[in-house]
Amino acid sequence: PGDFKSPRDSEGHGTHTSSTAAGREVAGASYLGLANGTARGGAPYARIAMYKVCWAFGCSSADILAAFDDAIADGVDILSVSLGFPWPIPYLEDPIAIGAFHAMRKGILTSNSAGNSGPWPATVSNYAPWTLTVAASTIDRKFIAQVALGNGKVYNGLSVNSFDLNGTSYPLIWGRDAANYSAGGNPDVARYCFPGYMNSYKVSGKIVFCETLWDGSGILLANGIGTIMADSSFPDFAFNYPLPATVISTEEGQQILDYIKSTKNPIATILVGEAWVDAMAPSVVSFSSRGPNPMTPDILKPDITAPGVDILAAWSPVAPPSMYYNDKRSFEFNIISGTSMSCPHASGAAAYVKAAHPDWSPAAIKSALMTTASIMDAKKHDDREFAYGSGHINPEGALDPGLVYDASEGDYINFLCKQGYNTTTLRKITWDNSSVCTSTEPGRAWDLNYPSFSVAVEDGQQILAIFNRTVTNVGSENSIYTASMYIPTSIGVTVEPSVLSFSKVGEQKSFLVMVYGPPITQQPIISGAIMWKDGIHVVRSPLVIYTILPGSTYSSSYSLPHKTPNFEGLSMYHKNGILTGK
Ligand SMILES: *[C@@H]1O[C@H](CO)[C@@H](O)[C@H](O)[C@H]1NC(C)=O
Ligand SMILES: *[C@@H]1O[C@H](CO)[C@@H](O)[C@H](O)[C@H]1NC(C)=O
Ligand SMILES: *[C@@H]1O[C@H](CO)[C@@H](O)[C@H](O)[C@H]1NC(C)=O
Ligand SMILES: *[C@@H]1O[C@H](CO)[C@@H](O)[C@H](O)[C@H]1NC(C)=O
Ligand SMILES: *[C@@H]1O[C@H](CO)[C@@H](O)[C@H](O)[C@H]1NC(C)=O
Ligand SMILES: *[C@@H]1O[C@H](CO)[C@@H](O)[C@H](O)[C@H]1NC(C)=O
Repeated sequence: PGDFKSPRDSEGHGTHTSSTAAGREVAGASYLGLANGTARGGAPYARIAMYKVCWAFGCSSADILAAFDDAIADGVDILSVSLGFPWPIPYLEDPIAIGAFHAMRKGILTSNSAGNSGPWPATVSNYAPWTLTVAASTIDRKFIAQVALGNGKVYNGLSVNSFDLNGTSYPLIWGRDAANYSAGGNPDVARYCFPGYMNSYKVSGKIVFCETLWDGSGILLANGIGTIMADSSFPDFAFNYPLPATVISTEEGQQILDYIKSTKNPIATILVGEAWVDAMAPSVVSFSSRGPNPMTPDILKPDITAPGVDILAAWSPVAPPSMYYNDKRSFEFNIISGTSMSCPHASGAAAYVKAAHPDWSPAAIKSALMTTASIMDAKKHDDREFAYGSGHINPEGALDPGLVYDASEGDYINFLCKQGYNTTTLRKITWDNSSVCTSTEPGRAWDLNYPSFSVAVEDGQQILAIFNRTVTNVGSENSIYTASMYIPTSIGVTVEPSVLSFSKVGEQKSFLVMVYGPPITQQPIISGAIMWKDGIHVVRSPLVIYTILPGSTYSSSYSLPHKTPNFEGLSMYHKNGILTGK
């Protein structure tokens, strides 16, 4: 029910992500006046081909693989895939990793969402080294809907609130006092204002205070005017609702409760939403999935961060515009959040780089995006690169990176063989009967020519890693690059040679990076960066060092419900909001 047996979008997710990646300018785009302005895709002159793989019950692996095949056959240039498993699975069982491998062989970069399972460590999904894994960060705009109480107090709640109560105050009640007993409700359920348990005689014409963030339907269906929800779980992005609604912290909620209890006729109003400046931006949003990489600890993931919070983009007019699944209003634009929204920003940037450099490999495009990324503020992120990878996407910088860390299909095959794959298991990924693992000698992932450096150290062991990397000159014909770095003083890093001279474009030079230091225990992350500079370009790669327990596999704890049950044991997706998966 609710699905169309056609490519038509009944959810909005695919329309939103596609119009973020590409699409021409539309003036006067807004969510009922909020975020009004000219909207366009990241690569406005690119064309979009959409492949529908998700349905109301989830996304099947067969559909995902078929879509990769179709897209490759159709000759697409970049694949934007805002989907992912919410738990770690090996590359050979992951249809997105397999599809992206096939795309890579044909010169197509796949850009993926990192997942919405943060902020817990090792929750990142889509960690294959041949894909670009994108975290979500804030933009310099946040959506506030203020609450004004009868006592003059004003609270700055978070909400994409398009409803205007014109400043009129309404009676304010506590959901706990409005249980519908004949429906099986009681005060302990009604305090959360869950749909079906509210007494419409008590709620009608009032603003209701609720003790958790929900979709607002409990109050809407009981004819309430609006709702104030107290919940500190989602402090850095806004949802939208089917009625006047806003979300404040639990501490502020206590103050509102005190007010309700202390006065005979408590009243409140919820003001129409506004876009305020977020001076903290860009910072990685709490829900964005974090590294380290749960499958290959020596490859840093996520790779990069891009805008994924409160993003305005196109919407399917038949999809519900708020969190409430039965919201029948019809809009052409919507404001939602998720790594699903950051992924297509990176896809658009990748298309932009590809347009300027049609002959660059997927690895070269990815390298250009990563080594030119803007530096994120480590002080705002305890988990540093495990939140943002190489940094914040900088599309214009990526057009002219100076040097790239290139890699071919053969390099990724060597990587897989060292990760324990043999010829039989390797071919389950490549589907190519000529691919072989010549040696099954296990090894670190440090040989892969990756644009970032990750050293996973077993707890209590010394730090020692040697990376052999090769850069290709894509800048000026004659150029000389000098190595520099920053890293905490307890860590030694040498780069050999420390000067690379190029005399033509396309020339390659190799260098060794040695990282060494004392034994470390329970070290979540030490980080710095290695940079090649020629006076014009700064080719920057983060270096992270951290401990893992001997023989450990990460036990990822997933805090948030994802959409829908699995289909054929398979994929979930990084939906817009997070609470949609009731
Ligand atoms: C959006 O802005 C344009 C130009 O300023 C204005 O004409 C239009 O009425 C606005 N739309 C809404 C819905 O506020
Ligand atoms: C607020 O005022 C506008 C314009 O006068 C009106 O259309 C709208 O119905 C009013 N809203 C409420 C909740 O009274
Ligand atoms: C209480 O719930 C019942 C069952 O859903 C419903 O029929 C009734 O209208 C509700 N009463 C009020 C006052 O909301
Ligand atoms: C390849 O690896 C798989 C899985 O580890 C194993 O079952 C299989 O026996 C191996 N095949 C060969 C030829 O070693
Ligand atoms: C690869 O080899 C298998 C087993 O010999 C065969 O069934 C399959 O058709 C071959 N695949 C291709 C693409 O040639
Ligand atoms: C590093 O890799 C390059 C390219 O594969 C190779 O030519 C070079 O010998 C390697 N250097 C070392 C010190 O292993």
